Amino acid sequence: MLYGRIIGWGKAVPDKILTNADLEKMVDTTDEWIVTRSGIRERHIAPEGVNTSTLSVLAAQAALAQAGLIPADIDLILVASSSPDHLLPAVSSEIQHQLGANCGAFTLVAGCTGFVYSLVTAQQFIATGAYRTILVIGAEVISRNIDWTDRNTCVLFGDGAGAVILQASEEPTGLMAFELGSDGSGAEHLMMPLGIAHPATHEAVDKKYQFIRMNGREVFKFATRTLARSAAETIGRSGLSIHDIDLMIPHQANARIIELAARQLGMPMEKVFVNIDKYGNTSAASIPIALTEAIEEGRVKEGDKLVLVGFGAGLTWASAVVQFGLSEKHAATGWRAAPTRTVRAAQNKIGVAARTASMRASLMLTPLYTRVSRKQRPEENSNGQKK
Ligand code: ACO
Repeated sequence: MLYGRIIGWGKAVPDKILTNADLEKMVDTTDEWIVTRSGIRERHIAPEGVNTSTLSVLAAQAALAQAGLIPADIDLILVASSSPDHLLPAVSSEIQHQLGANCGAFTLVAGCTGFVYSLVTAQQFIATGAYRTILVIGAEVISRNIDWTDRNTCVLFGDGAGAVILQASEEPTGLMAFELGSDGSGAEHLMMPLGIAHPATHEAVDKKYQFIRMNGREVFKFATRTLARSAAETIGRSGLSIHDIDLMIPHQANARIIELAARQLGMPMEKVFVNIDKYGNTSAASIPIALTEAIEEGRVKEGDKLVLVGFGAGLTWASAVVQFGLSEKHAATGWRAAPTRTVRAAQNKIGVAARTASMRASLMLTPLYTRVSRKQRPEENSNGQKK
């Protein structure tokens, strides 16, 4: 059994910052609304000519420098993105070419959850001995898929890329456990309709099918149902307890969702990494950007156990317990390990705690949503847009 050790990390965001004050001039919103509802203060927006491949290459170069490697050392490139430069070819091949790497490359699409899906996929290639050094990127220029007149979405998103390099290690490290999930019945809640079902005709563009449409309230409810439960499940599978986790790095979509998940898990906010205020929701890039920043800020040390957990379009979710570097205590036992009785007991304990906390949290949220639903709302279509 080989383990994928994280030996390099890097991030890249465009220089241009769009603040809440800037947005106040563009749509009917306020800094106060955006901060209290989402925790976002500013986000980075890619100018013309800066694409997903551009940011990916910069993040990858930083990760390679950190690892002391050159592009020729990479055996495989995996890119998580929902905003590729083109629909064809895959942006992973454009990145491979621009980086000067000589290896296979593919793109994985799972919305904001894509980076965790990719990390788990990369580990499978390492565990089987197929590849030794894998570059995993999460990158988005999602601002081009945003309707900048739609205040429901335009205040939330930002552009960026994050990358890690996994290298095969004989020592237990890296991915310890994971959960991948998908529930396509919620697809309509977060969708960019353009595609084979709606080709790029004038009519499709008039209907704004090229932009993300989101039923924020439904996605919010899904996230608060899913995030803590999935993290608890994966911590249980790893054989650790919540107390063994040194840092949780959640998808940065909404500070309230993150705080609620931490509360449901019984995890103090000091053990949760939050940088949404600076970047907004960078979709598949949010977890690798946060991971890189956490390492750079000294919040992650050799041997630390991390929980990465995300949710997004699909609807999808994914969580992973990852050991950073090597450690004497609580050495990673390997993601293959089947749950033992002790693990199952831990799982049950966490599950019960999470369910109880989740019920309490739902009760806390109820007033918010009943208040909204009690109000006479304009009719909405299935995408949550007002008719
Ligand atoms: N400024 C001011 N008011 C606004 C804005 C805005 N930017 N946007 C919406 N509002 C209004 C609404 O119109 C509504 O007004 P009404 O009551 O008169 O109808 C009011 O604010 C409340 O709207 P809600 O939708 O109830 O606000 P909520 O508290 O749910 O917060 C938010 C909205 C921030 C979008 C939240 O629902 C959320 O974060 N949802 C999750 C979204 C998410 O994570 N998406 C990304 C998933 S990841 C991926 O794969 C891309």
